[in-house]
Amino acid sequence: MSSAAELSSPAEGPGRSTAPAAGDEADEADEAQVTAEVRAAGQLLPAEPLNDQPAERPYPGGIPEATVARLPVYLRALYTLAERGVGTVASDELAAAAGVNSAKLRKDLSYLGSYGIRGVGYDVEYLVYQVSRALGLTQNWPVVIVGAGNLGRALANYGGFVSRGFRISAVLDSDQAMVGRKLGSVIVRHVSELEEIVAGSGVAIGVIAVPATAAQATCDRLLAAGVTSILNFAPVVLTVPEGVDVRKVDLSIELQILAFHAQRRSAERFGQVAGPAAAEA
Ligand code: NAI
Repeated sequence: MSSAAELSSPAEGPGRSTAPAAGDEADEADEAQVTAEVRAAGQLLPAEPLNDQPAERPYPGGIPEATVARLPVYLRALYTLAERGVGTVASDELAAAAGVNSAKLRKDLSYLGSYGIRGVGYDVEYLVYQVSRALGLTQNWPVVIVGAGNLGRALANYGGFVSRGFRISAVLDSDQAMVGRKLGSVIVRHVSELEEIVAGSGVAIGVIAVPATAAQATCDRLLAAGVTSILNFAPVVLTVPEGVDVRKVDLSIELQILAFHAQRRSAERFGQVAGPAAAEA
């Protein structure tokens, strides 16, 4: 889609719709369908801004999970654009950077009340704000990492979380030899302090970077202390009560998926090479 088909202007106020460009029926129909679908889901934010200021609208709480999963990808692409000094971006350009098609991108962003500006696209800085706000990243989330081994240390030493809305409150370990070591901006503390730290820092997100055998007990402890979201790196399926969010990260699964695609590509290449040779035979 060309940027000319963007439907509204942040300059006019976020979420304000304007008529689609004449002669751009495909996008018009596409956008109408998107709008209808979102409206049908009861999730459309007001077409007109509530006031002239960038609105702090309450989210209807109905952003689909698949859209939520793509928002961080858009955010990463937007950060890259912002770092390059790009002020506005067309939806097809942003979609390409994020690896999705532009209709999906526009639909996703419509859940946030963001429709871009006709002929220009989306204001990068404002879209960063909108996506960050949707993801709850306009505040700094305190995070606790349990396990200061290879992985926990790498996570704690990574400086990028702060600019993405996360603050490492503490890194905990059961090994006294680790306690007192400085990792990034924090000092490793003993895991016996977990409850006190979670309560004192209002930690909502716990990262599990302990061996698999200790993961469930660590999870139970984090939850009992008041943590409601878990990022689990240990290769186990955690049992948690309803209302707790668990995200599992498994790099070996990602590698296995890449291996599958690499294998398929190589089979296709082999087929292409073998094809003409076989035909000549
Ligand atoms: P590691 O052995 O280097 O570190 C584990 C740390 O946890 C140690 O410092 C140990 O003292 C501490 N620990 C053990 N029990 C504990 C407890 N009950 N409370 C607090 N601390 C405790 O292991 P590494 O390489 O850092 O891996 C950590 C976990 O992450 C493992 O479960 C591993 O399988 C997993 N992993 C997952 C990856 C993924 O892609 N999901 C990639 C790499 C590791």
